[in-house]
Amino acid sequence: MEPAIRADDLRKSYGDVRALDGLSFEVERGEFFGLLGPNGAGKTTFINILVGLVRKDGGTAEVFGFDVEEDYREARDRIGLAPQEFNVDRFFPIHEVLEHKAGYHGVPPAEAAERAAEALKTVGIYDKRDTRFDWLSGGMKRRFLLARALVTDPDLLILDEPTAGVDVQLRRDLWRVIERLNAEGTTILLTTHYIEEAERLCDRVAICDSGRVVEVATPDDLRSRGTDQLHVTLANPPESVPDITVDGVVEYRVEDDGLLVTAGGGRSVAPDLLRELEAAGYEVLDLDIRRASLEEVFVDMTRPGEEAEQLEVLQ
Ligand SMILES: Nc1ncnc2c1ncn2[C@@H]1O[C@H](COP(=O)(O)OP(=O)(O)OP(=O)(O)O)[C@@H](O)[C@H]1O
Ligand SMILES: [Mg+2]
Repeated sequence: MEPAIRADDLRKSYGDVRALDGLSFEVERGEFFGLLGPNGAGKTTFINILVGLVRKDGGTAEVFGFDVEEDYREARDRIGLAPQEFNVDRFFPIHEVLEHKAGYHGVPPAEAAERAAEALKTVGIYDKRDTRFDWLSGGMKRRFLLARALVTDPDLLILDEPTAGVDVQLRRDLWRVIERLNAEGTTILLTTHYIEEAERLCDRVAICDSGRVVEVATPDDLRSRGTDQLHVTLANPPESVPDITVDGVVEYRVEDDGLLVTAGGGRSVAPDLLRELEAAGYEVLDLDIRRASLEEVFVDMTRPGEEAEQLEVLQ
């Protein structure tokens, strides 16, 4: 079976700016997939190519096996998009906007009205159905964009920063809705700058930078590449770094109540570390492991050393 999304060597330039510079990756059917990258990495450009809003310069993009240009209609009808920027007919009641949208994608009028009502209920703004888009609050606008993406019952739901600037409660509501849709079989492509959100929701993430994919992996796999910290509380803390050798440990630091140990993959060094400490005569009272977050790994992968230094100078 064809994957939900296949991107191969996609290229797009705006003048001198290479928005996409050989972007390639695949999203399997049914996956909850995250597309992460700093501002300007090319995420929205990629999404706009998938839905036919931007014409690529080179490479191929397919949705469920349909080429996004040659089989535009087939590809587009399978996608529901909640875009990063608001682009809504402002002058109609929002339920009408949804009915038009469904109609445009070939849904008959009676069914379109039903679907519009259902989508508004799903995102919790059914009581606002007769209001214009302009008169919704910021959070309601985000909800509405999700409803509009859902009204065509898409196989692939694309969410471009759906929770930017929304409150904690709404973020959790939106998570619940999209997790349910994914559990029911909808493939999801999510971009977000809340790395924690990707960590919590996504089966796999692609980290992109400067128009290319740097890495594709599960959040857990990526975290295991970061450095973890193990805080060991000892009954008899040492005066200086103890004379022990443990594979995987990068650094030992003496603290008032024990040791702070930095390691790659903290879970696996812990048994060896404890054994070595006890063999060297230390009594371990407590062990606290703080794993690297996806955010730390993400920052390491997407910000070259030089730029990071420049930012420090600016601060
Ligand atoms: N219509 C356009 N005209 C000129 N340049 C553009 C246009 N659209 C995008 N770009 C440029 O292409 C690059 C990629 O932009 P894009 O919007 O795809 O990034 P993004 O990863 O979505 O970023 P963000 O996280 O800020 O949303 C940027 O340098 C941007 O300025
Ligand atoms: Mg964007």
